[in-house]
Amino acid sequence: MSDEFSRAVLAWYDQFGRKDLPWQQDMTPYRVWVSEIMLQQTQVATVIPYYQRFMQVLPDVQALAAAEADEVLHLWTGLGYYSRARNLHKTAQRVVSEHGGEFPPSVEGLVELPGIGRSTAGAIASLSMNLRAPILDGNVKRVLARYHAVEGWPGEKAVQDRLWQVAERYTPQQRFGHYTQAMMDLGATLCTRSKPSCLLCPVQAGCEARRLGQPTVYPHSKPRKALPVRQCLMPLLVNQDGDIWLQRRPDSGLWGGLWCPPQLEDQAELDALLAGLGWQAQQQQTLEPLRHTFSHFHLDIQPLLVRVLPSPGVAEAGQVWYNLRQPTRLGLAAPVSKLLKRVEQLVA
Ligand code: ADE
Repeated sequence: MSDEFSRAVLAWYDQFGRKDLPWQQDMTPYRVWVSEIMLQQTQVATVIPYYQRFMQVLPDVQALAAAEADEVLHLWTGLGYYSRARNLHKTAQRVVSEHGGEFPPSVEGLVELPGIGRSTAGAIASLSMNLRAPILDGNVKRVLARYHAVEGWPGEKAVQDRLWQVAERYTPQQRFGHYTQAMMDLGATLCTRSKPSCLLCPVQAGCEARRLGQPTVYPHSKPRKALPVRQCLMPLLVNQDGDIWLQRRPDSGLWGGLWCPPQLEDQAELDALLAGLGWQAQQQQTLEPLRHTFSHFHLDIQPLLVRVLPSPGVAEAGQVWYNLRQPTRLGLAAPVSKLLKRVEQLVA
C-alpha cells in the first residue's frame, strides 16, 4: 500500500521531476543546506541567481564560517527574512568549530543547528547524505493532507503529528533523495494550492480529497478567531430643514476621508458635543442598532436621531448639512449610507 504510493511518485519523478536545478548538481550537505534555507518562503525562480552568486563567493562551509556577517547579509539582500542569513552564518561557524567542518550525519544532529527544523533536516539528510528521512514542508503537507483528507489546520500540533506519521509511512526504503525531490515537485507543480492538476497526478487514484470532489479544501486553513466587538453611539443630528450633519474623517485611519455622523462613546460625549457647538437637542430617538464588520473587529453602532436647533451658518470646512432629497456627491462609509437610507422617511 505505502509502497504503491512511493513507487508511483518515483516513476512520475523519473519522467517529470526537476533534475537540473543548481543545487541538484554536486549535492553536498553544504550546497543542499544553503538551497533549502533560501527556498524557505521564496520561489525557486527567485532563489536561483542568489544561490549561484552565494556559491561563487562562499563555495564551502569554511568560507561561509570565515566570512564577515555583512558579506553574508549582502549576498542575501533582496531575499528577505534576514534571520535566515544570520542563522546560516551561525550554523556554518558551529559546523566548523564543533563538528570539524562536516554536517552532523543525522536528522537529530542537524536539528540542533540554528535555523534547521525537522523538515529542512530531513531534506538535507535525504538529498545529500542518502539517509532515509521524511520531510514535511508546505508542499508536502498539501500533498499528504489531500491524499488522506486530513481534517484540521496543520498549525495545530495534533494535525502536524498526524501528517508526520503519514510522511514517515510513505517514505520508501530506497531512493530517499529522489523521493524527497519528487514530493516537493509534486506539490509545487501539480498539487498546487488553488488549481491542482489532478488528472496528471500519479497518485490520483488513491487520493481521498479528490474522491470527495474538493481537493482544495485540504489542508484546512487557520480557523478564524472571533472578532472583538466595539460599540459606539452615532447621532444623526437633524436640523429644521431635515438635513443631517456629517463630518469629514481624517485621511488616515478607519473610513479615511469619508463623511460620517459623529462617532461617540456615550450620551455624555453627545451632550458635550452639542454644548460645544451651541446647539440644543429638541428631541432624541433611539434607532435600531447596526453592526458593521471590519477585518479586525465588529463595530456595533447605536444610531440616534437627534433633532437640533443649530445656530445659523454653521457648516464649516470639513462639515456638511447633508440633504437626503438632494444629496451632495460625497464619499460615505457603507453603514452611514445604509443609515441615511433608513431615516429618509423619518426626517422628511
Ligand atoms: N523547495 C524546497 N526545497 C526544494 C528543492 N530541493 N527543489 C525545489 N524546490 C524546493
